[in-house]
Amino acid sequence: MKALLLAGGLGTRLRPLTEELPKPMAPVGNRPWLEHLVLQLKEQGIREFVIALKHYPEHIERHFGDGSRLGVSIEYTREEEALGTAGAIKLAEPLLGDTFLALNADVVQRIELLPLLEFHKERRAAVTIGLTEVEDPSQFGVVERTSAGRIHRFVEKPKRGEAPSRLINAGIYVMNRQALSFIPPGREVSIERETFPALIEAGQGVYGMPMRGYWLDMGTRDRYRQAHWDMLDRKLAIPLFGEERGKGIWVGNDCSVGSGALLIPPVLIGDRVRIGDRAVIGPYAVIGDDCRILGEARVSETILWDRCLVRQGARLHQCVFGYDAEIGSKHILFEAVVNRMKEAVSV
Ligand code: GTP
Repeated sequence: MKALLLAGGLGTRLRPLTEELPKPMAPVGNRPWLEHLVLQLKEQGIREFVIALKHYPEHIERHFGDGSRLGVSIEYTREEEALGTAGAIKLAEPLLGDTFLALNADVVQRIELLPLLEFHKERRAAVTIGLTEVEDPSQFGVVERTSAGRIHRFVEKPKRGEAPSRLINAGIYVMNRQALSFIPPGREVSIERETFPALIEAGQGVYGMPMRGYWLDMGTRDRYRQAHWDMLDRKLAIPLFGEERGKGIWVGNDCSVGSGALLIPPVLIGDRVRIGDRAVIGPYAVIGDDCRILGEARVSETILWDRCLVRQGARLHQCVFGYDAEIGSKHILFEAVVNRMKEAVSV
């Protein structure tokens, strides 16, 4: 079975980090999330992928190529104009089989595919939507289902207390080819707003199955950070690249830690990181490969992507810095989300 990964959105809510980067390529634990996702699906037997590209497609193509580095095969579609979540699936139709998976590639999750696939087959569904339960569904589209799991209605952003359930669309679908005939070609189409309601209206079997396990849409800054803290707390069980040197302290290859420097768990340090004397890293810090953190700097509840430079005595708390950012000496930054050095100065 093939998996189609939707990776072409603009990621506006995660700007500026996604200004020149597809959101699914944002690193989680120093690896692009999309790579974690492909490997996780591969573990469960998926070997063939189609990635639907639009925003900065070259980043994804360059990173994955034909997939052979990861032991899978990857094909791509590219959109001239954004086609939306259903339009992108329609464009990929010639590359897909009779039954396939489609996933929002920006959802951080640990998926168990087998129960979903079995559910789809047993119900003879046209589409099965993986569902996840959220505490407060008022920001999401909530489903109303029969006891057998057939969806008869979506309620968009219900008022608090008025939601028919707390189950929302998790952005993972098992689809039969026949469902694609309900998507008009060549224009932007939203799967949630147009295609699913049209399928239900036409009496096609649209089912929903609650999925267990970790789920987080990393589309906002807070949730992007949360995915990292959950990873460090091991609630999100993705591999941590580094040797665990003390409880909750993971350090990559060829790092150096200066005298009197402190690593306060949980922290994840990438490869070839230099940490200066008396610097303090953590708690809750993820430091990308080739970062340099100079003497007396402090970094807590912060994510640094690869190759950042934090100069002498700077202090960062609850920040996210994109690739190659540079933070001036003695700068004090709180809750900054920054893509480039020039922005760092103006925060
Ligand atoms: P925001 O701009 O912050 O809303 O994010 P987004 O549009 O990138 O993501 P959203 O959560 O709305 O979309 C869900 C998934 O579908 C994400 O993985 C997107 O990358 C993907 N997606 C959204 N629109 C398109 C599109 O027009 N084409 C393609 N190929 N993928 C899309």
